[in-house]
Amino acid sequence: MVQLLGICGSTRKASLNRALLEALAAVMPDGAALAIWEHGLDLPIFSSDAAEPARIGELKRAIAAAAGVVFAVPEYNYSIPGGLKNALDWVSRPPAASPLRRKPVGLIGAASGMSGTIRAQTHMRQILLYSDSPVLSQPEVLIPRAQERFSDGRLTDEPTRALLASFAAAMVAFVDGDG
Ligand code: FNR
Repeated sequence: MVQLLGICGSTRKASLNRALLEALAAVMPDGAALAIWEHGLDLPIFSSDAAEPARIGELKRAIAAAAGVVFAVPEYNYSIPGGLKNALDWVSRPPAASPLRRKPVGLIGAASGMSGTIRAQTHMRQILLYSDSPVLSQPEVLIPRAQERFSDGRLTDEPTRALLASFAAAMVAFVDGDG
């Protein structure tokens, strides 16, 4: 069984990115599963003077145990949300022991605007260079005007579901080393 971990970069209850991650979990191929990180990213701002929060220890262990990680990346001010960057800062310390080191990563994102999180995902790719994490290139899951594709937190748009299914298959092949 290929076990992936899904992490949503939004802390919002009605998050479109969370709904996108759930829709991805529902189309995983046979022999693979996507578990969603349920504990949020609501953490103190990283400081090397502060003790690591217990939740970061849990997140590090969940990332380490997964064959790959899928981040659902909202776009805030043409970049990733500060809460997600802060969580990545915590997870990345100490760098040699970061569970993201060489961990295969996939990116998906939904935005209310027209760009579909392309700028945020590009920033994620740059950030993940630090941990030498290979990032799946294709297919890109960039969902613009996402509020028109969900109803009550459920995906209603079939082309988006088909795109997620092809992303899921590509991600599983990627972590298996066939991608
Ligand atoms: C946004 N939004 C947004 N959208 C976009 O396409 N590009 C952007 O730069 C921004 N910037 C931005 C900043 C802030 C502070 C907020 C709150 C929102 C809109 C954003 O795509 C929309 O709120 C999504 O619904 C956020 O994702 P979740 O929380 O629904 O997963």
